[in-house]
Amino acid sequence: MITHVIGARPNFMKAAPVHRALASRGVPQTIIHTGQHYDVVMSAAILEELGLPEPDVNFGVGSGTHATQAAQVMVAMEAHLGSARPDLLLVYGDVNSTMAATVAAVKLGVDVGHVEAGLRSGDRSMPEEINRLVTDRLARWLFTPSRDGDENLLREGADPASIRMVGNVMIDTLVRLLPIADGERELRAFSLQNGTGPRPFALVTLHRPSNVDDPEMLRQLFGALDGIARQVPVIFPVHPRTRERMRRFAIDEGRVSLSDPLTYLQFLGLQRHAAVVITDSGGIQEESTFLGVPCLTMRENTERPVTVTVGTNRLIGRDTAAMRLEVEAILAGRGKTGSIPDLWDGRAAERIAAALA
Ligand code: UD1
Repeated sequence: MITHVIGARPNFMKAAPVHRALASRGVPQTIIHTGQHYDVVMSAAILEELGLPEPDVNFGVGSGTHATQAAQVMVAMEAHLGSARPDLLLVYGDVNSTMAATVAAVKLGVDVGHVEAGLRSGDRSMPEEINRLVTDRLARWLFTPSRDGDENLLREGADPASIRMVGNVMIDTLVRLLPIADGERELRAFSLQNGTGPRPFALVTLHRPSNVDDPEMLRQLFGALDGIARQVPVIFPVHPRTRERMRRFAIDEGRVSLSDPLTYLQFLGLQRHAAVVITDSGGIQEESTFLGVPCLTMRENTERPVTVTVGTNRLIGRDTAAMRLEVEAILAGRGKTGSIPDLWDGRAAERIAAALA
């Protein structure tokens, strides 16, 4: 029996292909949803699009401080493992649920496999970096998306026999669903169609504390986005955290088109047609690299360096003036081009299933 732990939006696209690959081999599986994300479009709608079965258990932990959220996952996981003991717990990515489930399981002697192991930004001010370090240190199996993951783990002293470079499971989901995410409906909804096809537009997501919890930074970002919106439409589906901060700091969106969070297919449908993506997300850096769409990342560092060295990603840090210059260059046809990293081929989950078999 293999049990998957999912909790927050970026986990869902990673778990879906692994669940599918194991199901096709007839492996018995269960799914635990910690409940870290609970809004319909942050969770249920996305799970449905991905074809993940209803979770067998939902811990319902909800929002809270990091310690509260992690502690609630640990308490619930410990109780759950008292009655149901899987042969392996699979955890994904770097969210609080990933780290907390791992700590509770390993203490009870349950083996953990970490999908998307080895990524490091080197920035311990990011909660995700702490989650990655703890999870990788404790997991029995370390499934990495790219060579840098293996190198980081080996440098930290991980057992080489525990590491498997399998490729990027997030891209598995993209490869499978791209044919049905044509974006037609979304382009129409945001008035992005003209007679001959989509007109150039910028697609934005920002939700990291470093960008949205600092009123001055968030104000500057919106100032720059408003400037870009004089040239091309700027579409910004807003994460609940960002929405709350905008309200609290009384920030006006100016000419930027805000929307509620989108489902996976809606967002992918827009992303494939975007002239430029501006983000602080991890997964979107990868998706834009695969799609060949220039990406400007509003962070000082990235745990996904291949998106910069091989792909279309550029790190802009907190420099909103540089962001505007880069957008101008991209709109003038001088955007960064890139290629697709090794093993980002839609078959990463099959490699995980093969390794576990
Ligand atoms: C989490 C992950 C982050 C990931 C992001 C993707 C951690 C440390 N962070 O950040 O790595 O990029 O998910 O979305 O795990 N909220 C709702 N509805 C929800 C969920 C959250 O309204 O369904 C609001 C709450 O006000 C909550 C805030 O969003 O306090 C933050 O949610 P939380 O799960 O703590 O972290 P994210 O910022 O979503």
